Amino acid sequence: MSAVPSVNGAAPWPHVEMVARTSVAAPDHPPVFSLDGVGVRYGLVQALQGVHLSVAPGERVALIGANGCGKSTLLRVLHGLAKPSSGQLLRGDGSRQAMLFQRPHMLRMSAQHNVALGLWLHGVRWREARAQALLALQRVGLDGIAAQNARTLSGGQQQRVALARAWALRPDVLLLDEPTSSLDPHAKREVELLMAYLAASHGQAGPGHPVTMVFSSHNLGQVKRLASRVIYLEHGAVLADLPVHDFFNGPLPDAARLFVKGEMA
Ligand SMILES: Nc1ncnc2c1ncn2[C@@H]1O[C@H](COP(=O)(O)OP(=O)(O)O)[C@@H](O)[C@H]1O
Ligand SMILES: [Mg+2]
Repeated sequence: MSAVPSVNGAAPWPHVEMVARTSVAAPDHPPVFSLDGVGVRYGLVQALQGVHLSVAPGERVALIGANGCGKSTLLRVLHGLAKPSSGQLLRGDGSRQAMLFQRPHMLRMSAQHNVALGLWLHGVRWREARAQALLALQRVGLDGIAAQNARTLSGGQQQRVALARAWALRPDVLLLDEPTSSLDPHAKREVELLMAYLAASHGQAGPGHPVTMVFSSHNLGQVKRLASRVIYLEHGAVLADLPVHDFFNGPLPDAARLFVKGEMA
């Protein structure tokens, strides 16, 4: 796994883009996810409808669209937290997934124990889990506050602890639901930088098995910096699914074009 420098100083952006570009999709490998006509219904609300998509290992997929368009529902389906009411979801064998939310869930214990607990729940012995947790906190530049009650940390620090908790598990797939939406600009940058590093690392299967990342975002700058592919959703349906360059430079369906124009304004 690549060593990550401290993110406390100002991080040079060009380097981040370079890192983000180094993880390349491997289309010859079986897909990590494959959705065939997936729909999710909550009572009268059709949260997702007719979603067909396939995600290859190492892809960095951004989900965008207005509030209520189905981004969180799609991520929850991918993580097994919501069941399709129609269609089918196939998941690649044996890949380990971690998910981050807009507001991290921290238990009332030290940052180190919060990270260690995740490992312990995956069968790592407590002593070993604590040691690995400290290393993971080092990677996100938070080893200095390892002993502090995680609930007393700032929002940005808590999200970094959540990233450490995910990272410690060496996930093959990382799902993030608007991970920087509730953060101030400085914390946003730090978390985004760490997302780039995590995406450029590899999962439990070792080198040659890049991490696959699917994240939702309201920040189109962030999407440009981190994503290799962009999926635009409206009323639960996929209206555009394009490589990031094509999404921002090529012709788009009207709805997606107006959304991008509105967000950029
Ligand atoms: N647990 C739920 N029960 C009922 N309706 C839900 C539930 N979760 C999401 N929805 C509805 O499904 C639609 C999609 O929501 P969501 O996936 O959260 O969108 P987004 O994350 O893009 O804002 C919305 O209309 C939302 O109100
Ligand atoms: Mg959401």
